[in-house]
Amino acid sequence: MSEQQRPRDETNAPVFSPRKNGQAQSVSDELAAWMSTGWADTELRDLEPVEQAEHTARRRAAISAAFPGDRLVVPAGQLITRSNDTEYPFRAATDYAYLTGDTSDGGCLVFTPGAGGGHDVVLYLKPRSNRDNGEFWLGGYGELWTGRRNSLSEAADLLGVATADVTTLAGALRSGEATTRIVRGHDAALDALVDELRADPDEESRAKSAQLDEDLSVTLADHRLVKDEWEVAQLQLAVDATVRGFNDVVKALPQAKDTSERYIEGTFFLRARVEGNDVGYGTIAASGSNATTLHWTRNDGPVREGDLLLLDAGVETTTLYTADVTRTMPVSGTFTDVQRRVYDLVYAAQEAGIAAVAPGKPFTAFHEASQRVLAEGLVEWGLLEGPVERVLELGLQRRYTLHGTGHMLGMDVHDCAVSRQEVHLYGDLKPGMALTVEPGLYFQPDDLTVPEELRGVGVRIEDDVLVTEEGRTVMSAGLPRSSAEVEAWLAERLPR
Ligand code: GLY
Ligand code: MN
Ligand code: MN
Repeated sequence: MSEQQRPRDETNAPVFSPRKNGQAQSVSDELAAWMSTGWADTELRDLEPVEQAEHTARRRAAISAAFPGDRLVVPAGQLITRSNDTEYPFRAATDYAYLTGDTSDGGCLVFTPGAGGGHDVVLYLKPRSNRDNGEFWLGGYGELWTGRRNSLSEAADLLGVATADVTTLAGALRSGEATTRIVRGHDAALDALVDELRADPDEESRAKSAQLDEDLSVTLADHRLVKDEWEVAQLQLAVDATVRGFNDVVKALPQAKDTSERYIEGTFFLRARVEGNDVGYGTIAASGSNATTLHWTRNDGPVREGDLLLLDAGVETTTLYTADVTRTMPVSGTFTDVQRRVYDLVYAAQEAGIAAVAPGKPFTAFHEASQRVLAEGLVEWGLLEGPVERVLELGLQRRYTLHGTGHMLGMDVHDCAVSRQEVHLYGDLKPGMALTVEPGLYFQPDDLTVPEELRGVGVRIEDDVLVTEEGRTVMSAGLPRSSAEVEAWLAERLPR
């Protein structure tokens, strides 16, 4: 098939591109004709909607009600090149998956204001590969290369939403007069198309448009703050798989000692891929003083007897909900006195933090409770000069604890980060919110303000907590937390 014969979309861009190794350059007319025939009808009919369809319908209705008269564009995102013609594993944009239940690439959900109020909502998707034009086997993204896609009608049945061919999306967006808002940053071509449609003449007009988009993203994040029942169940699946992944890691500690922190990362990753979609964020497998680097994801250090291993990892479900759990464990199975002292202070801080998670409490309460316990301990150890109120007022404990005590958790590991401050950071906790409680202490190896024995010790304990009507549930309670429990866990599971 020649370049001219390749199908093109309405912008004249080829709808598929060939692989680039040059070994199979031309296609005879006979082969092209033969390849277009002899295929069974594999259309799946009478499919039942997926479980979350009723939830995504309710979420779409809520977003529709929040933006009457406006057109809303929520892209899935596109594949991102890793090198030459290979791509990173695709992960659909969170807001898109939240509103559709779909996790495939290249789609876009569009709310178009309807004549009688409300919106007509259409999910634009890649259709099945066309068997007439060769795309399905010649294009590098055809179904014989990347796998079967749902047909548009299968997707409509499964997701409970009207669907259309994504190659018609640009034309659909070019028609109509409504004010358009887009969730930016996921699909550069759609961002550019919306800019083109707006044709903002000056800086002031561009700023107003940016605000339209930001309001859409902020509203979506606000809506995602409180998880529905189905989301809570997904989070629990993520946490439960994560617990199993941590148990896998304990069993693999001997091999890690023979290799590196990468063995820990790889062991956890196996669990994440088998039970979920992926890890929800880069695994932090930090042994020895690497544990004092908060986001140590290089994971290329040694794992030595006598070290603490800090493992911060989470399985992401196939529906894109992630856990975020940290345990710090002695590689030998037993804490040294110094390690235990640090661990027990962090544990006490976490206990205070978890106890401060309850409906109606300010979001900041658990952070303040944990920080107070850390500050008290650091003053008692003589590392900080009291009184504790002064330490907290000046934030002096932050030299050794560095980060906040936790964050909202959901489809994004740091979930709903752009939600309005008055409902999130300065708001009160509500049943259905999920968050991490993760105090830590990190004594840098070159910190001359602490005694030598503390240098290079890093401890974080992180659990996933659901706010309930009655108070809270620690979703990750399947893992041991206190130093004695951690030692018992290791004694039971470490291969001898
Ligand atoms: N895993 C990153 C965090 O704990 O926030
Ligand atoms: Mn974490
Ligand atoms: Mn976290």
